[in-house]
Amino acid sequence: MAASWFAVFRLRMRGKSVVVRHQVQNQVHNQVHNHTSVGTHVGASHVQAAPDHHSDEKENERRRLLHVVQAERREQAERSVLISCHATNSEKKFLKHLSKYGDIKKHFFYQSFGLYAVVEYSSQESVASLLEHAAIPTVNHESVVPFKSRLLSLRSLASVASVGSADQQSGQHCQPQTSPPISELIQRLSREESIDQQITALTEAYQLTEENIRLRFLVCSLLKDIAAAYFPECTIRPFGSSVNGFGKLGCDLDMFLDLDGISGRNVKMHRSGLSLEYHMKSANSERAVTQSILSVIGECVDKFGPGCVGVQKILNARCPLVRFAHQPSGFQCDLTANNRVAMKSTELLYLYGELDPRVRSLVFSVRCWAQAHGVTSRIPGAWITNFSLTVMVLFFLQRRSPPIIPTLDHLRDLAGPADKSVIEDNDCTFVSDFSKIHIHRNTAAMEQLLCEFFDFYASFAFNKMSINIRKGKEQNKPEVVPLHIQNPFETSLNISKNVNSTQLDRFVALCRESVWLLQQSATNSPNGESGATPWGLAALLQPLQVPGNKGRKRRSREPASERIKSLLESLKIKNQS
Ligand code: GTP
Ligand code: MG
Repeated sequence: MAASWFAVFRLRMRGKSVVVRHQVQNQVHNQVHNHTSVGTHVGASHVQAAPDHHSDEKENERRRLLHVVQAERREQAERSVLISCHATNSEKKFLKHLSKYGDIKKHFFYQSFGLYAVVEYSSQESVASLLEHAAIPTVNHESVVPFKSRLLSLRSLASVASVGSADQQSGQHCQPQTSPPISELIQRLSREESIDQQITALTEAYQLTEENIRLRFLVCSLLKDIAAAYFPECTIRPFGSSVNGFGKLGCDLDMFLDLDGISGRNVKMHRSGLSLEYHMKSANSERAVTQSILSVIGECVDKFGPGCVGVQKILNARCPLVRFAHQPSGFQCDLTANNRVAMKSTELLYLYGELDPRVRSLVFSVRCWAQAHGVTSRIPGAWITNFSLTVMVLFFLQRRSPPIIPTLDHLRDLAGPADKSVIEDNDCTFVSDFSKIHIHRNTAAMEQLLCEFFDFYASFAFNKMSINIRKGKEQNKPEVVPLHIQNPFETSLNISKNVNSTQLDRFVALCRESVWLLQQSATNSPNGESGATPWGLAALLQPLQVPGNKGRKRRSREPASERIKSLLESLKIKNQS
């Protein structure tokens, strides 16, 4: 059904409409190619939707497990330093000076309340040597906490650099760490020639860059140095959108303080003879232990953490956390501990994103659309979260015919013994070997999927049904709430229980309006050659006419599904004539 839908769907080209009947296969192929060349998420690899076995094998080789990619990034971060360099305008002199301590493998500059550089050395010894030669600053009328970290400042020494302002230094060397403003994005997208191209351009503009990912791992590594004062064997792992492939420049940095790797756990005691064990403090629950650890680490971050400001300890939340801003990177950080289910959700989202390039593209487009209309918000409240929205996109893709991605139950059935994972009685098992996952042939274009996404949720029975990616099928709602999205691993929980009916109604109204707008894009030509007038996806990012948007009058429209059916019919008739 979906494939024939597209067979008559018109690709929007500037100034003309082109009916694509025979180019479906190439379309998907080109999308994959484009993505492979531009995609820079944590794993950076993509798979082709069509089942070509030779290239499937190649793709499987390129796709890597999230934990393997993460281990590499962590090691890279440990060989890196972050330097505030407000005192030099010569990159050459800067590098010459830093090369005294060892080989520099990579470096880049960026702006965030001043100019900073990330410098990666080839070996950790070089970092140790650099730190050995760094001085503790003397400040007038104040005292410093002598906590040494890999965040340093470059001093203006006459022999090292000629003095210049940070602004002079910026320019072409600086790597952007934030996404373009929405108005600029709308203009950029309006110049594209098809909605598919707009979706690719949006993904390129918003996805995390290689440099931004490095910076995220470096901040985790700097935090680890603080936590290591108490727990030398700890690891701080990023999770959520920083690593699941769906992160947008400027998204928060979710971190997990992992103490599972501490040696001495699960050491078998000898049956006879003497042996020693640690004498340790205990508390009456794991939650209480987590709270006290986060409380102490939070205090250290607040009092000793260079560049860490606005520290809040939110220890009574369902998932206790320490929230702060890391000023040198510009990241809003959430540090949690004992949050293994969220790590599994991250792995699952990463896997789905790697299975087909259309998954990431659709998630980016929908997240961006939702942000533009205030469907999601950085402020906690009754809004739909990005996580819930991503699960809604995954569910929609599972409901295509044939499905674009498999159900979570199917992924669990494919799992091998090494994939088995049970966390607090929740079955979190799913396959990690990509080569075991066979994907159905569904060649729907992005333009079609975007339109179908809005249509799907414009008419979804939210009042009765729950969204369930484990089964890949809507289920009866187990409780009376406006929006029910089953937590994929803690299956008795609803990940969207915060959402109220006002927010849900707005979401549905925006979906309806968006179908209508895409319908206009499919039947009209873009206005003018200059592409100045927003159309297609760009038009969807502008304020829309829905209830709750002040000063706008709602136009009456027939139900979205009716409109889309008539659009399809008209396209079919046109194509046959
Ligand atoms: P942005 O930060 O908005 O870009 O997206 P995000 O996916 O990182 O979301 P967020 O920072 O809110 O949460 C981080 C991660 O925690 C998510 O990716 C999920 O893995 C997990 N998570 C968030 N909300 C929930 C929830 O309600 N239930 C469960 N089980 N996990 C959640
Ligand atoms: Mg996040």
